[in-house]
Amino acid sequence: MGQLDGKVAVVTGAAGGFGRVTAKLLHAEGAKVAMWDVKEEPLVAAARAISTVDGELLPIAVDIGDSAAVDDAAAQTRAALGPIEILVNVAGVVNAVAPWDVTDEDWERHFRVNSSGTFWCIRACLPDMREGRYGKIVNIGSLAAQQGRPTTNPAYAASKGAVLGLTVSLARNLGEFGICVNAINPGFIRTDIHDQFDDEAIAGLAADIPLHRHGKQGEHGLPDDIAAAVLYLVSPGSDFVTGEYLSVNGGSRTGS
Ligand SMILES: NC(=O)c1ccc[n+]([C@@H]2O[C@H](COP(=O)([O-])OP(=O)(O)OC[C@H]3O[C@@H](n4cnc5c(N)ncnc54)[C@H](O)[C@@H]3O)[C@@H](O)[C@H]2O)c1
Repeated sequence: MGQLDGKVAVVTGAAGGFGRVTAKLLHAEGAKVAMWDVKEEPLVAAARAISTVDGELLPIAVDIGDSAAVDDAAAQTRAALGPIEILVNVAGVVNAVAPWDVTDEDWERHFRVNSSGTFWCIRACLPDMREGRYGKIVNIGSLAAQQGRPTTNPAYAASKGAVLGLTVSLARNLGEFGICVNAINPGFIRTDIHDQFDDEAIAGLAADIPLHRHGKQGEHGLPDDIAAAVLYLVSPGSDFVTGEYLSVNGGSRTGS
C-alpha cells in the first residue's frame, strides 16, 4: 500500500530535475500522475522511464504561462485520470542577468511563468478540490526569494516572492474547503537549471552550505531531497499543515 493510493496528482515541470523525480516518487506511492511540461520530447521520455503501463502516467505538453492551455491540460487530466486532488507546481525559469541588463521581456517572462503560471495551474485544479473538499497544493519557491542571490536575475527572486505570497494567501482562503497550500524553498540543488551559471557562481552557491553531507564541504542538494519534502506535504502525515514554507537547503538559511 502506498501513501497516495488512487490519488490523482499533477506535477508541472515534470521533464526537469525536480519534476521527474517527484513524479516518479508520487507514482511509486500509488498516485496516478499527470506530468505537465513545455518540453514535449523529454517529457514523454521521462514518463516512459517511470512506467510504460497505460493509464498510470499522463504526459501533457503545456506552456503554463498560457492560461487557456493550462485549463485545457486540466480538462485532459480530469477526463483521463479523474478529479485532481494533488498539484505540485515545479515548473520555473531563471537566468543569470545583472539587474542593469534586465529587459522588459525577460522581466515579464519570469513573472508569466513563475508567478502567473503557478496561479493558472492552481486555478485550473481548484474546481475538483473544492468539489471534493480536499486538496494538497505544493508550490516550489526559492531561497532566493528570502535572501536574494548574487549573479541571478532579480526578476527570479521577485517572481518567486510572489509564489510565497500566493501560498499564504491561498492557505487562508482555501482552508474552508480542506485544501492545504504549502511551499518548499530549495537552496542549491544541482540540476540542468544551473547550466547557464559559470563555475565561479556554482562554487559560490556550494560554499554557502553549512551542512557537510557525507562529511564533505560544499555538497549540494539532490532532486530526491525535494521529492521527499513534496511527498511529506502531499501525504496524510501533513494534513494539519498549511501556509508553511519548508526549507530544503542544507542550512543555507537558518532561523526566521
Ligand atoms: N535547482 C535549484 O537549485 C533550485 C533552487 C530553488 C528553486 N528552484 C526551482 O525549482 C523548480 C525546478 O527546478 P529544476 O532545478 O528542476 O529546474 P529544471 O530546469 O531542471 O526544470 C524546470 C522545468 O520547468 C519546465 N518549464 C519551464 N518553463 C515552463 C513553462 N512555461 N511551462 C511548462 N513547463 C515549463 C522546463 O521545461 C523544465 O523541465 C523551478 O521552479 C526552480 O526555479 C530550483
